[in-house]
Amino acid sequence: MKRVIYVAGARPNFVKISNILRESKNNNLPFLFVHTGQHYTKNMSGIFLEELKINKPDINLEVGSGSHAQQTANIMKAFEPVILNYKPDVVVVVGDINSTIACALVSSKLNVLVAHVEAGLRSFDRSMPEEINRILTDSISDFLFVSEQSGISNLKKEGADESKIHFVGNVMIDTLVYNRNKIRESNIIDKIGLVKNDYITATFHRSSNVDDFESLKKIIKVLEDISLNEKIVLPLHPRTMANIEKNNLKEKILKLSNLKLIDPLGYIDFIKLISKSKMVITDSGGIQEETTFLGVPCFTLRKNTERPITIQQGTNHLVIADSNVILEKYNNFKKHKKFIIPKLWDENTAKRIIRILIERI
Ligand code: UD1
Repeated sequence: MKRVIYVAGARPNFVKISNILRESKNNNLPFLFVHTGQHYTKNMSGIFLEELKINKPDINLEVGSGSHAQQTANIMKAFEPVILNYKPDVVVVVGDINSTIACALVSSKLNVLVAHVEAGLRSFDRSMPEEINRILTDSISDFLFVSEQSGISNLKKEGADESKIHFVGNVMIDTLVYNRNKIRESNIIDKIGLVKNDYITATFHRSSNVDDFESLKKIIKVLEDISLNEKIVLPLHPRTMANIEKNNLKEKILKLSNLKLIDPLGYIDFIKLISKSKMVITDSGGIQEETTFLGVPCFTLRKNTERPITIQQGTNHLVIADSNVILEKYNNFKKHKKFIIPKLWDENTAKRIIRILIERI
């Protein structure tokens, strides 16, 4: 009997893996679910496993935080014996985090097939750690599961064997659709004291935005300017909170009367919050896709995106840290409201992935 190891390590990975695990079970494809422990606190990990009804991990490598080299190396060292013991036919990794490349590399060196979910995305910005993780993971993967057209052309340009490329759609959207009833029932908007469609959700955690003091100050200035006329809710990632505290910016943020600083939310509440936002301001990857599916205008504070379909067809806009630019683009979007949901962003991506794995391994 063929068997699989599924790997997840950080918050967005859990969202991507949940329906894949479910489909694996539904199809009686035996597996081991490995949590690397890259994210380890309740609100970055535990709550996602609980809410998404993900099996308790069979193994938690408990690697925790560290520099990129330390974190990647620790995951590799801890993951190697897992493969040697379980002897999987394929290891499935998702996304672009350090856990993704670490586990793909270990598997590939032990001659175990690697499947990468969300293959082919490219920001063409090698200063982002995630871009390095994407390029390297794709280059050693045997199954390249692609979520949007750009992924196919990027992989072909890089010389990937076309028989490895499978356009399957977007697993994050699978999870969103699967959980839509629970999301509808969430009362997070009342709980925070907001009114639907009358607030903005903002999130930041990208190292290029929050590790550098000047960039962080600019982002906070944008929030300050916009909060003069709009209510903003800011669920803060631990990396961002640590940098805010380190740079003595917390007092300043707490003084902004229209801005609500809150802890990171679980999946169900967070999706409810963005679904009823006037707009979202973010530097996340996945949120660009979720807002496109929900039809909520999204302003991404980055110079590039590895998810260009969210701009070409969806509701996403790349912006600089300038409140006038964001508000002008928002007013323009409101006038036209043109967007479509990208091809295969439905609830069947995990089904397609599992079908291909069963046929080919
Ligand atoms: C990682 C991913 C990024 C992804 C993000 C989602 C890489 C290179 N980056 O970035 O692509 O978008 O996860 O959140 O893999 N921390 C906690 N609790 C936790 C985990 C982390 O407090 O459960 C704190 C630690 O202080 C840690 C810091 O957050 O040092 C950063 O965590 P880390 O996993 O290194 O990177 P992220 O910034 O979360």
